[in-house]
Amino acid sequence: MIKQETIQQIQSSIDIIDIVGTFVKLKKRGANYLGNCPFHHEKTPSFTVSPSKEIYKCFGCGKSGNAIGFLMEHEKYSYVEALRWLADKYNIEIEETETSPEFKALQLTSDSLFIINNFAKDFFSNALINTDEGRDIALSYLKERGFRDDIIQKFQLGFNPGAKDDFTIAALDKQYNKDLLVKSGLVVNRDDKLSDNYRGRIIFPIHNQSGKVLGFGARIIKSNDKSPKYINTPENEIYIKSRILYGSYFARTAIDKANECLLVEGYTDVVSLHQAGIENVVASGGTSLTIEQLRLIKKYTGNLTIIYDGDSAGIKAALRGLDLAVEESLNVKLVLIPDKEDPDSYVNKIGAAAFIDFINREKKDFILFQLEIALKDAGNDTSKKSIIVNQIAETISKINKAEEFTTRQDYIKQVSEILKIEESGFNALVNKIIRDKLSKEDQKSQRIEIPADTENTQVENETNQLFNKDELHEQAVVRTLIEFGLREWDENEKVAQHIFKQMDESDLHEMIDNKLLLKIIQVYRKWFNEGIEPSEKTFLYMDDHEISDQVVKLMKMDTEISPNWNKHYEGFIPSRDDLYKEEVISTLNYLQLRKIKKLIAENQVDLEKATNPQEEMIFIQTHQHLKKIEVELTKKIGSVIIK
Ligand code: UTP
Ligand code: MN
Repeated sequence: MIKQETIQQIQSSIDIIDIVGTFVKLKKRGANYLGNCPFHHEKTPSFTVSPSKEIYKCFGCGKSGNAIGFLMEHEKYSYVEALRWLADKYNIEIEETETSPEFKALQLTSDSLFIINNFAKDFFSNALINTDEGRDIALSYLKERGFRDDIIQKFQLGFNPGAKDDFTIAALDKQYNKDLLVKSGLVVNRDDKLSDNYRGRIIFPIHNQSGKVLGFGARIIKSNDKSPKYINTPENEIYIKSRILYGSYFARTAIDKANECLLVEGYTDVVSLHQAGIENVVASGGTSLTIEQLRLIKKYTGNLTIIYDGDSAGIKAALRGLDLAVEESLNVKLVLIPDKEDPDSYVNKIGAAAFIDFINREKKDFILFQLEIALKDAGNDTSKKSIIVNQIAETISKINKAEEFTTRQDYIKQVSEILKIEESGFNALVNKIIRDKLSKEDQKSQRIEIPADTENTQVENETNQLFNKDELHEQAVVRTLIEFGLREWDENEKVAQHIFKQMDESDLHEMIDNKLLLKIIQVYRKWFNEGIEPSEKTFLYMDDHEISDQVVKLMKMDTEISPNWNKHYEGFIPSRDDLYKEEVISTLNYLQLRKIKKLIAENQVDLEKATNPQEEMIFIQTHQHLKKIEVELTKKIGSVIIK
């Protein structure tokens, strides 16, 4: 664990413009900086960074956060990785607290596996190039297939000699732990005897993002029926198959430059394409893509082009997972290589230029391709066709981010044409699926928030739905508190004190439904009472990320006033800053009004259940009283300028 002092030192060194500017081109616009959002595709910049608030916010896709959050989102770092990156940038020495023995053990195992793998990589590489056996059996084979020396070296290919335990002996000689050697998959333990696992095979080291060796793929040289073509590293602390994309270390910059990632099946496909100068390519290892692999790709580009053999069994497996890619907002294209070829053999056959031409010409949209296959399958069966309509609508409904609207409409148009169905009807179907999903999610979150056993809950629910489903007013009070809480309310008190006078503890629970917003107000009050003056900054780097994320979302960027306006009003335009008292009043009035409406609804229920005239009378009087307050509040709200 990184020490708290170090974390604070890092936080106080943060220059958000400098950090975000490393990844996004920013231009100064008034108090803020503006650039094209790195999280969604846009032509006019709506990505805003505020140096004074130390936050970023995109008005296009809604992403927001602090500098650490930016690194986590953009570089897909964990919290600790982001801190390390910052410490490195600002030359801050990281001090760590004592770690738990379990964590240390895990760390030790991982470190040791990396060390063993690195040793093995060098051993295999040496065996390939500097031994007679390696040259005669393995290097000659690679040469025959057309692999050049420079590419063999770049990918650090190697050879595990055919003897029973050449590698094992060398590794034991280095004092490596036996259990770890077995864990690494390099060595097997049979009847208490250790021997090499990859005997007589060509070795493909598999690298992580920073070039360290996670494991190996070991290919047989002369295929036979008894042994598998490849033996791969077993799952261990560092080799986690679902997160591995072979070649990603070598492809990273090329993918970025081309803004496209090519995906092939095999190790040899990656190596061959590199040799042909096509470097933006990674391999999945022939299984269906996992969400982690897709996210890894998304880190570099939004465009994924899958290149598979036409007759490959892998294609079905790959297609199965691709709805996930759509959900990750990846734009997926598909290219099928002609029968009996794979990318490796095909690029060797027709050459690099023709191969690139072929890819660009044959690239098919994945969603439309899927539709094509399904239609071929269905033939003239009309019932099958209606299933297809629903399936494709389901897929398209996953293109549901705000900025993907045009893409979705494009698909709806094309698919209706292909299926020869009414576009408006199909559009309605897709929208219905999206709506159904949203309302399901809504119900889920409501179920968590509100216990379902009392009758009050029902009333509460209905009132909420009628008056304020979206929590805007609850958010407003939290925003007002954080932004203006320390300002003067009058000679005697600050805004925060005024707000807390209007809402004591019991009011709070009644007025603020959202648990997180309630927590923020309580944290604020606690700090305030302890003499800590809470500001946006105090919340910005809190350990409780749920809170800091929410606060960032609530913050408003200082927006600029258009020069024309300025001219028109000769310099005086009231900003939120000038009107903060009005904002406090209106915010509180809204919450008050909401509470009154809730009381009216509850009173209504009581009235209906009243058993005698006296009781009824009391409820009616209460109703009239509440109604009067409601009318007054409504009037007041109407007279206050609110934004
Ligand atoms: P391929 O059979 O297409 O192998 O399997 P390849 O990489 O193209 O090798 P060459 O060109 O025939 O020499 C594609 C991928 O599937 C995984 C490997 O990752 C391989 O690169 N695979 C295949 C295995 O893991 N085990 C196997 O037995 C076969
Ligand atoms: Mn192949």
